[in-house]
Amino acid sequence: MTANAPFIAFEGGDGAGKGGALVTLAAALTADGHDVLSTREPGGTPEGLELRALLLAASGAVWDQGSELLLMTAARIQHVKRVIRPALAAGRVVLCDRFLGSTLAYQGGGRGIEADLILDLHRRFVEDFRPDLTVLLDVDPATGIGRSRRRLADDATDEGRFEGLDLGFHQRVRASFRAQAAQDPYRTILIDADRAIDVVQQDVVSHVRSRLAASLSQG
Ligand code: TYD
Repeated sequence: MTANAPFIAFEGGDGAGKGGALVTLAAALTADGHDVLSTREPGGTPEGLELRALLLAASGAVWDQGSELLLMTAARIQHVKRVIRPALAAGRVVLCDRFLGSTLAYQGGGRGIEADLILDLHRRFVEDFRPDLTVLLDVDPATGIGRSRRRLADDATDEGRFEGLDLGFHQRVRASFRAQAAQDPYRTILIDADRAIDVVQQDVVSHVRSRLAASLSQG
């Protein structure tokens, strides 16, 4: 971990349960005495929220994959510089629902854009700023997409552009997330999210608590 407070990202396919797990973890870390900031991508700043609406709308927009990458990256640069880094420097633990891993998985694995281009763009503007820890909620896309579509219908939102893509796309996204986890096992907690939601959430809390305790004891 860095001298700053830890930056923890949640990653996973659509409908993996990241949002609920993040809320549960935020409550647990707050109870432990941490000052926690919960945020998400795309979003996290006023500019990012506008980009989110443009990027996720299921109707009304047809994005080229290059435009999609640049807008996701633009939202992240705003977020890192204006929200995440200042919060970490002020000693706040930052929990972020999706980060660079999602761009590598969706625009990289899913769309087929080279990882080197995605990483070069990131480094050009925010250096090698990465999560100290990534919680990957791994779920079979057939299960996750079903959950996600039901939630979008219940919430009556139009944010379902990615849920509308075919299963092959979502299988490539999952494969990318798993490959990222295998490449960086010390900074990743891989959680089987194909189980009951409360079991998954408790697993996330106990794993993150033990990683934080281990990093504190190492100084
Ligand atoms: P999110 O609201 O987390 O969706 P869900 O709750 O269903 O997991 O994320 C919105 C969508 O944006 C999601 O389908 C993945 C996509 N996305 C990318 O394609 N690239 C990115 O860099 C990010 C941050 C998200």
